[in-house]
Amino acid sequence: MSSVVFLAVFALLLSPSAGITCNEEGIRRDCGYLGIQEPECEKKGCCWHPTQDHSPWCFYSNPSPTAYTVKTIQKTTTGLQMSLDMNDTSSGPFGPPITPLTVSIDMETSDRLHVKIVDSNNKRWEIPTQFVPSPETPTAAPASTQYTVSTASVGEPFWFAIVRSSNNETVFNTSGSFNSLIFEDQYLEISTSLPSDANIYGLGEHVCPLRLNKGQTYTLWNFDTATPENLNLYGSHPFYLDLRSSAMAHGVFLCNSNGMDVSVDNDLLTYKVIGGVFDFYFFLGPEPEAVIQQYQEVIGRPHMPPYWALGFHQSRYGFKNVQALQTVVAKYAEDKIPLDTIWNDIDYMDGYKDFTLDPNNYPQSELSQFVDQLHKNGQHYVVIVDPGIKNEKGYKAYDDGVQAGVFIKDKNGQIFIGKVWPGNTAFPDFFNPGSFKYWQDQIASLMKLVSVDGLWIDMNEISNFCNGECTSSGVDNTLKKRRSERIGFNPTDPPYGINNQGGHAPLNTKTLDQDATHYGGVVEYNVHNLFGLMEAMATDYALRNLTGKRSFVLSRSTFPGSGRHTAHWSGDNHATFDDLYYSIPGMLNFQMFGIPLVGSDICGFIGDTNEELCGRWMQLGAFYPFSRNHDDIHDPDQEPYLWPSVIAISRDILSVRYSLLPYYYTLFYYAHRPVVATAPPAATVTRPLFFEFPNDSKTYGIDKQFMVGSGLLISPVLNQGSTSVQAYFPQGRWYDFFTNATVSESGGETMELSTPMDQIQVHVRGGVTIPMQEPEMTTTASRLNPYRLLVALDNGGASNGSIYLDDGISLDMSNSTLVTYVTSTASGRMTLTAQPQGSYVTASSPPLNTVVFLGLSTAPKSVSVNGKDLSSSQMAYSSSTNTLTLTDLNISMAKPASIVC
Ligand code: GLC
Repeated sequence: MSSVVFLAVFALLLSPSAGITCNEEGIRRDCGYLGIQEPECEKKGCCWHPTQDHSPWCFYSNPSPTAYTVKTIQKTTTGLQMSLDMNDTSSGPFGPPITPLTVSIDMETSDRLHVKIVDSNNKRWEIPTQFVPSPETPTAAPASTQYTVSTASVGEPFWFAIVRSSNNETVFNTSGSFNSLIFEDQYLEISTSLPSDANIYGLGEHVCPLRLNKGQTYTLWNFDTATPENLNLYGSHPFYLDLRSSAMAHGVFLCNSNGMDVSVDNDLLTYKVIGGVFDFYFFLGPEPEAVIQQYQEVIGRPHMPPYWALGFHQSRYGFKNVQALQTVVAKYAEDKIPLDTIWNDIDYMDGYKDFTLDPNNYPQSELSQFVDQLHKNGQHYVVIVDPGIKNEKGYKAYDDGVQAGVFIKDKNGQIFIGKVWPGNTAFPDFFNPGSFKYWQDQIASLMKLVSVDGLWIDMNEISNFCNGECTSSGVDNTLKKRRSERIGFNPTDPPYGINNQGGHAPLNTKTLDQDATHYGGVVEYNVHNLFGLMEAMATDYALRNLTGKRSFVLSRSTFPGSGRHTAHWSGDNHATFDDLYYSIPGMLNFQMFGIPLVGSDICGFIGDTNEELCGRWMQLGAFYPFSRNHDDIHDPDQEPYLWPSVIAISRDILSVRYSLLPYYYTLFYYAHRPVVATAPPAATVTRPLFFEFPNDSKTYGIDKQFMVGSGLLISPVLNQGSTSVQAYFPQGRWYDFFTNATVSESGGETMELSTPMDQIQVHVRGGVTIPMQEPEMTTTASRLNPYRLLVALDNGGASNGSIYLDDGISLDMSNSTLVTYVTSTASGRMTLTAQPQGSYVTASSPPLNTVVFLGLSTAPKSVSVNGKDLSSSQMAYSSSTNTLTLTDLNISMAKPASIVC
């Protein structure tokens, strides 16, 4: 019997729930959640029928729920306002429907549409604009738009659809019997149809491939766990990018901080949200990079990092004392491995209490001397701070918090007590306006003890070792909370259980009780996902105020808008080749989420790493925007100097990183600066291949290679024992970064490249000019060195690039210089021009000393710089690689210049 016939018989044998007619064929409307069991399904009056495909096992007998009807439609200056109502208020899967509803559809810009659905009569929870600053709706619609919107007419069941004007592609469509709107107090649902060519990305934070698998539910609920695949993690980003076979991309942002499940199926994408309102933004791109730039115009552009943050970082949970830090820094220097920053995990604290020093292992005078020396070396020091403040009278951070009244309260108005590293703890409530000053004061007292350069904010999901408030016995009180009575709005036991941790874990699992209260009586249930963002905001605010400079903050928990304040790392990964791979989609996702300064714990956090894995990870990690080796206390050391092969690898590849930092920094500048309408979109630092090659559908699923900007293609070895890479080269001309040789003249091909242990594949794209600088052991030293340009010519002999220069630390970036490089070839003559703008660079700044042209097919007869011929000793042409190298140029970066060959 074939499996198809077998399934059909099986379907007939399994009768539907008693008393209802269930149509097991066709599309099913989900009545449950992943993991629901038959008794619960039947109790809800729904049909139960397991299948082998991805359709729901528990589904409505009637696929069309009672729909909202359009009662009125009014034109506004920017679009429409509709009112909806529902006659039958008795039904609803998770409570009575809220009626009437108001829908506003606003055409905010030519590429951004805003659709908001709210309760017409009662104000529901919405994210305050000081946390995610949604732009103001303009007073008039734009003259033209990339989209058209259509809606149901008065008297019809509600739906709306957005169509891309240029090609009639439907971008979002809630019409159809399976997509109807549900709007109940603790359950909101809406779906859009997905065509089969939809490629969906985003919806983080999850450990999963870059292109999302269909038939998978992505739960968004901030949670501290050691990075299992597909389950909800530290941050929540209700944003997706959809790239179609038309090569056009759009983005959808649901501005909502409540817990949610977003299921991505073959033909539907469904939001199931347990509170708030539907507040959607649609971005029409059409290039993927434009989608992200348009998204950032809503959530805020990423902050500009201090230059030193782009150097290499070494961290460890378990540096026992100052001596241990000293040894690490000395070993790096001895083995000539670049190092900018050494980190302290919670080990430096007295009893794991924030803003204190362990008097025995980290005595203040010794630590301060060490940090002073670091600063003299041009190096930096970052420490961890957790949000849990030990519940201990006499401890300043606790006493100050009590006095200022800034701790989160439990439902009885008492300080909420959880448990983290120091034992029982209270948590600052960053909704409280007084909390920012409180936090700044605590950071100021830490800075008085030791001069830290940046802060690492961890455990901010909020992570709690108890499930909810720790009872006096410290016993897990989850079950008690779960059985609480359901009366009206119930934060502790909502009627729809999102798929928390893949098992519908109660929402207070390893975090706060959901009826804990914040300033203004806001319940944790509504703001849980915002805590990491708010802490990052307060920490950034404090550091800027205290230092007057750009801050460096690294946060584990994030939300849309976090990129304005913080960097992110992917949390507690494992020392495995699988996690080496997952670090790439993780990094690329955060580029889409507007947090470009991101990386994973190099060599792996949990578990014993080994020479091969650590070597491969140092190679890949050298290209993360944020590059840090970090290790768990339970594992052996894993600094790169511990294995001779890894020393050599790290020295080489970090020198490459340091030489490329002007390129990275320039990419950060473009992602940070206000959008320039006439300039190409710029929002990311590293990016998926499809961002650069949206016309090439072969790139849509690639997440084992990535681009740095538009010019570098990184193809690392990700498999144990492997010494080769299958690298795909999209259309264009490609050069080997290390040998300068042309590897592909027109691209569009996959190549197997031999990649022994001491190599990683890095290729330069013809047409892009990469600014570089001679590397040193720190960014402080590198920044004093002369510059170098790598001019990779395209098949027409052209190349473009730029370099952004400033002091690397000032908040005010007006004192800066941007030099633009344009190379073109006509009538056999190639000309490179350099055009500086701005006043940061002066005659005494480091000059441009070296220019390397890749892809020059004949040796030039002569080369002149600013009209003056170069001597033959300054030029070297390689006919085997078609490379021209010009040296000792001493070209001022402050003045326009030209090179003619
Ligand atoms: C968390 C962090 C990890 C850190 C540890 C101790 O697990 O994710 O990076 O080392 O706490 O502070």
